[in-house]
Amino acid sequence: MKKSNEILSFPVSHTPNFTMIDVGRKRPTRRRAVACGTIHMNSEAFSAIRTGSLPKGNVLALAEAAGIAGAKKTPELIPMCHTLPLDQVTIHCDLDAHSHAITVYAQAVAFAKTGVEMEALAAVNSALLTIWDLTKGTDPNLSIEGIRLLLKTGGKSGTWVNPDGIPDWLQAQLPDPLSLRGKRVSVLVMSDRASAGTYKDESGALLKACLEQAGATVLSQAVIPDNENKISTSILSLCEKEKPDLLLTSGGTGPGPRDVTPDVLRGIANRILEGLGDVLRSESLYYTDTAWLSRATAGIVGATLVIALPGSPKAVRECWDILNPFIGDALEKIRKQGYEDEK
Ligand code: MTE
Repeated sequence: MKKSNEILSFPVSHTPNFTMIDVGRKRPTRRRAVACGTIHMNSEAFSAIRTGSLPKGNVLALAEAAGIAGAKKTPELIPMCHTLPLDQVTIHCDLDAHSHAITVYAQAVAFAKTGVEMEALAAVNSALLTIWDLTKGTDPNLSIEGIRLLLKTGGKSGTWVNPDGIPDWLQAQLPDPLSLRGKRVSVLVMSDRASAGTYKDESGALLKACLEQAGATVLSQAVIPDNENKISTSILSLCEKEKPDLLLTSGGTGPGPRDVTPDVLRGIANRILEGLGDVLRSESLYYTDTAWLSRATAGIVGATLVIALPGSPKAVRECWDILNPFIGDALEKIRKQGYEDEK
């Protein structure tokens, strides 16, 4: 029987030789893309644009408007592009008097399941062609060059920066990829099978790799059985001895009789932060219909934020992608709530 979340695929003979990617199982994240391109002209046309004296009017203002309109039209013009809910499109025209060139920069922003680079590129093209259209009467020998993507952020692959370089002003606005720079983190995996050696734990190593990639120092990584006493003493002793900023646990959050991690955490935490479990469950629903089976939660033990994640490597990967954009900021906010002196 088909699973409820699967969609129909046509018989092979009817499969077209192109495919619109199904992004239904992707999680929307804040996306941003910046593209640019340059139009060259003669000195007469350039001065006319600068002084606003071209017969068809204010070229630069129209180029901006055309760029925004171009971004909005992207899915109509480029067949495999999805229709994205654009949050903002901004255009900037940079005039270079030395080479009689205008470089158009376009930024597209959306909270979406797929990237906005085609929108930024479409905006650049529309703006450049509008400049061409308004200038061609003065200089028919125009040329457009260097249309390229400079930057994209968001989504699973994070930030991409054009390897040929980007302008300094754009570089200065890049997000810090090390969301946990300077943070000390411990990792604890609950698994009867992994602690007995009948199953190789992958989640602990995965968490460690994610944390280190985000700039954290991983203080320890251990595997213990799903045993209430063991979980309780391990969390308490880690928080007291290592005093990590963050303790990530994995496993034991499901509905099974041996899944006791959230219950133990509730018993030993001085504060429970219900919201984090709610965020993990609701965001995880994009990936899996049964995300709600996890009782993932978070609490503060001593001065440490303890987050109890589900156990499978897939769930750990997905939950990390959800946490990563805000966890560094959250740790700072928690520290300022009066935990500074406890370290
Ligand atoms: N959350 C995400 N992001 N991805 C998943 O695959 N699996 C769910 C749920 N949460 C899942 C998830 C399922 S099927 C279960 S049973 C529980 O997490 C398992 O929690 P546990 O491994 O902590 O017992």
